[in-house]
Amino acid sequence: MISRRNLFAGGAVTAAGALAAPATPAATPTRATLTRAAPAAEPFHGPHQAGVATSPQAYAVFLGLDLRPGGDRESVVRLMQLLTDDARRLTQGRPALADTEPELATTPARLTITFGFGAGLFAAAGVEPPLSPLPAFETDRLDKRWSGGDLLVQICADDQLTLAHALRMIVKDARSFTRVRWTQRGFRSALSPAGTTQRNLMGQVDGTVNPTDLDRAVWIGQGPQWLHGGTTLVLRRIRMKLETWDAADRVAREFTIGRRLGDGAPLTGRAEHDEPDFARTNRLGFPVISEYAHIRRARVADPGQRILRRPYNYDEGVAADGTSDSGLLFASYQADVERQFVPVQRRLAEGDLLNEWITTIGSAVFLIPPGCGPEGWIGETLPS
Ligand code: HEM
Repeated sequence: MISRRNLFAGGAVTAAGALAAPATPAATPTRATLTRAAPAAEPFHGPHQAGVATSPQAYAVFLGLDLRPGGDRESVVRLMQLLTDDARRLTQGRPALADTEPELATTPARLTITFGFGAGLFAAAGVEPPLSPLPAFETDRLDKRWSGGDLLVQICADDQLTLAHALRMIVKDARSFTRVRWTQRGFRSALSPAGTTQRNLMGQVDGTVNPTDLDRAVWIGQGPQWLHGGTTLVLRRIRMKLETWDAADRVAREFTIGRRLGDGAPLTGRAEHDEPDFARTNRLGFPVISEYAHIRRARVADPGQRILRRPYNYDEGVAADGTSDSGLLFASYQADVERQFVPVQRRLAEGDLLNEWITTIGSAVFLIPPGCGPEGWIGETLPS
């Protein structure tokens, strides 16, 4: 099968060539085919913002902004009208107004720009915040550098240049209203074949169990009307201790998650998407999938209550002593943070074998407002 991503990366040319004439030189990937421009655009308008249900692009930057002191409802409205206009143009391969590098806007590369509102924005706009801060979890070691924020801009694309340009335009236009609190960059494999789940930097297949009925699990359909079609994002920066993980043997690594490293299959199954059998025991009577395995602790029985995980890897280089600064930008979308995310995180904090190798160092929660139409703007439904 030809993957969407390969299609955009020029792989379709290669794959099609391979199907038509497997032995011809045209079947060999060349630099030209691999670097062919990725012109595809993701729709911007609709009942939901893009960038949540969108098949994950290869690169992401999460930008946390704080409103400047004195920011009020009027400035929030002006800011969101401006940024929506930028997003509407850039995602469709058109330059932003007063774009200083219009040539950089012509390759949308499945660019999505998604906005999220934090507590500070609701305070400035005079709106009762529709979500509460997360409770403290015992395993968290939060750094202010990666936490909080009044406004989130999540920018994803299959091309780094497109991403960098969109980020720059957004920051420029937001500058008179906001200052940058943090930027967090992430990536996934740009070349993963169709239908495969990404791998994280611990080598695991990561993203197998996700909800399929997004209307129940992800999009808000209850409570205040102005939120309908929106969702929430919990963004956690989770550092991995890769040096000690490297020292664990394969059996221990697989036992930690409850799945095999090779194919991501549960320890009780054969293929990635087989249902794990949590009741199965080994000859000694112990559970095959440990009581403290990550997938058992994270399991939510009702598929309509599952969180949508859309994580990105981060890798910020290596310190002088060889220690890497790597981990996961764990992005979780759900209709209700308290009902869906918090119980899972609580169970993981209380006992998850994976905790030996991971530490959450950043945390932020945002309301992702509904999408908008061609004349509208993100945030237009905010109550007065
Ligand atoms: C660096 C941190 C983490 C790593 C490396 C990691 C890795 C994994 C892996 C390899 C799987 C199995 C395959 C899959 O279904 O995707 C998994 C499943 C899962 N993880 Fe994580 N995870 C991390 C953090 C978290 C956090 C913070 C949460 C939520 C608070 C979470 C929630 C889940 C859920 C809900 C599942 C699916 C469980 C099931 O029903 O089978 N994970 N994770």
